[in-house]
Amino acid sequence: MPRPELVVALDFQTGAEALDMARALSSLAAPGQPGLWMKVGLELFVAEGPSVLRELKRMGFKVFLDLKFLDIPNTVRGAVRSAVKSGADMLNIHAAGGLDMAGIAAAARDEAFAELGGVGARPLLLAVTVLTSMQDVDNPILRGRPASEVALELARQSREAGLDGVVCSGQEAARVKQACGPDFVCLTPGIRVPDPDDAVPGDDQRRVMTPEAAVAAGADFLVVGRPITRAPRDKGGPAAAARGILERMARAAASAGR
Ligand code: C5P
Repeated sequence: MPRPELVVALDFQTGAEALDMARALSSLAAPGQPGLWMKVGLELFVAEGPSVLRELKRMGFKVFLDLKFLDIPNTVRGAVRSAVKSGADMLNIHAAGGLDMAGIAAAARDEAFAELGGVGARPLLLAVTVLTSMQDVDNPILRGRPASEVALELARQSREAGLDGVVCSGQEAARVKQACGPDFVCLTPGIRVPDPDDAVPGDDQRRVMTPEAAVAAGADFLVVGRPITRAPRDKGGPAAAARGILERMARAAASAGR
């Protein structure tokens, strides 16, 4: 299993704030360290469009475009093509869109990558299983089934459709790897460092895990937003928080033999 990489969620309203944050973290990307990616999600992409991806790539980051496509297959096909052409190194769809939609998304990714000349790494296409903000209790989408069971079923389906991996909770990563194979990518948001002083205000994440536990469970990418981007200045701010998480990941990876 390759070494785990850190993906920082740039959930900001403006490109200026996002790029300032990326700049503040850029010194942390170093050879021999776990890789450092930036994530552009709905808030930032709706505000700024693809230009922010180009800027981040110019700064040397790999970019995860987290727009979680879910629509009729033809529309998703076009959206995936546009995402690949915007320079995204990783993108995602909702597994809830079904096998057809996922298969068409995978084909669209391949087409667009080939049209770009097929140079470098093919962008990773992942499927969101069950959002990490969702719990089992009273959830209309899960309909009484445990989130982990639904996530596993959606992961198997995504693999069948030709996707590279899934977005799931760290709590599900080990079982997803077991069911879908070690090369099937697990990207896990909902990462929290257990320090009550660093609690994220109004936190909506529910199925959370520490960086160490996510790495031990086999996660390939850890997505961390607010614990880094809103880290208090008196504790060194975002760069110190990101450094701490990278160190925790490196230690956990070493003890897991990764
Ligand atoms: O601030 P926090 O660490 O909770 O940020 C997590 C990021 O991961 C957010 O940008 C959120 O949109 C994203 N995400 C998630 N759960 C998923 C998929 C993506 O939290 N299943």
